[in-house]
Amino acid sequence: MKHILIDCDPGHDDALAIMTAFAYPEHLHILGVTTVGGNQTLEKVTTNAKNILEFIGAEIPLAKGQKEPLVKALNTGEQAHGDSGMDGPYFDGKDYPVVSENAVRFLYEKILSCPEKVTIVALAPLTNIALLLKVYPEIKEKIECISMMGGGISHGNCTELAEFNIYVDPEAAHIVFHSGIPIVMSGLDVTEKAVITVQEIEELKNKGRVSHLVFELLKFYNESGKQFGFIDSPVHDLCAIEYLLAPEIFSGTDWYVDVITDDGCARGQTFADLRALSGHEPKYMY
Ligand code: BDR
Ligand code: CA
Repeated sequence: MKHILIDCDPGHDDALAIMTAFAYPEHLHILGVTTVGGNQTLEKVTTNAKNILEFIGAEIPLAKGQKEPLVKALNTGEQAHGDSGMDGPYFDGKDYPVVSENAVRFLYEKILSCPEKVTIVALAPLTNIALLLKVYPEIKEKIECISMMGGGISHGNCTELAEFNIYVDPEAAHIVFHSGIPIVMSGLDVTEKAVITVQEIEELKNKGRVSHLVFELLKFYNESGKQFGFIDSPVHDLCAIEYLLAPEIFSGTDWYVDVITDDGCARGQTFADLRALSGHEPKYMY
């Protein structure tokens, strides 16, 4: 059994990841869900998280985190996820509680009070996680691993070189990558191979409440993916959860990975030290 905290910005693929984690209570004990500004504003992604958690009948605490990246202004993912950040389905607006603590404090308390080590599943810009590690550095010892969707070694999707989650807050990503915590990075090189086809999406239609919700989410997401040249839909964030459930379906390599924070065309790029030229031990797996 893994004890996990999910930090997210729903987001169609964040929603799939949350629902999948919730479907495996015998493997994943979800200590909480936290939100951060990313695909849309903090308010919008928190509403989306509430809608998903309410829809699936979850009783998991939800905490709201940082509105803005550490240094620069928020750059949202509206182009891919729509005006709400999770366009497609209609929710009847029933409320879901949000705890009073900020997500950073909430993460700290949840990790501290867990008798075993905790895995953080990071599906969004790393702002909350970076703050957690800066404000409460002693907490690192209790973090088993960060399973994250972010970055890319061969290419980006937000710029030629940078993937969205890292591009939004490269300074936060830099802190996380330099934290010494084991990281399993599901970057674009992995997640763009994890696609759901148009036919598979159609098959979810009217198969049950949750299936139909997933159909509605993916219908929009698939349409919007066409503007980026996708026919089938990469389920990026789902990989970070799926890795915890079925690591054997992934392959990866241990590499030292770093993040570029300079302004300029490489801002937000993640790169791997393939030849160990930096003298660092390989540490992160993608
Ligand atoms: C990542 O960016 C977001 O739009 C998705 O939710 C995912 O976390 C993919 O680059
Ligand atoms: Ca996301």
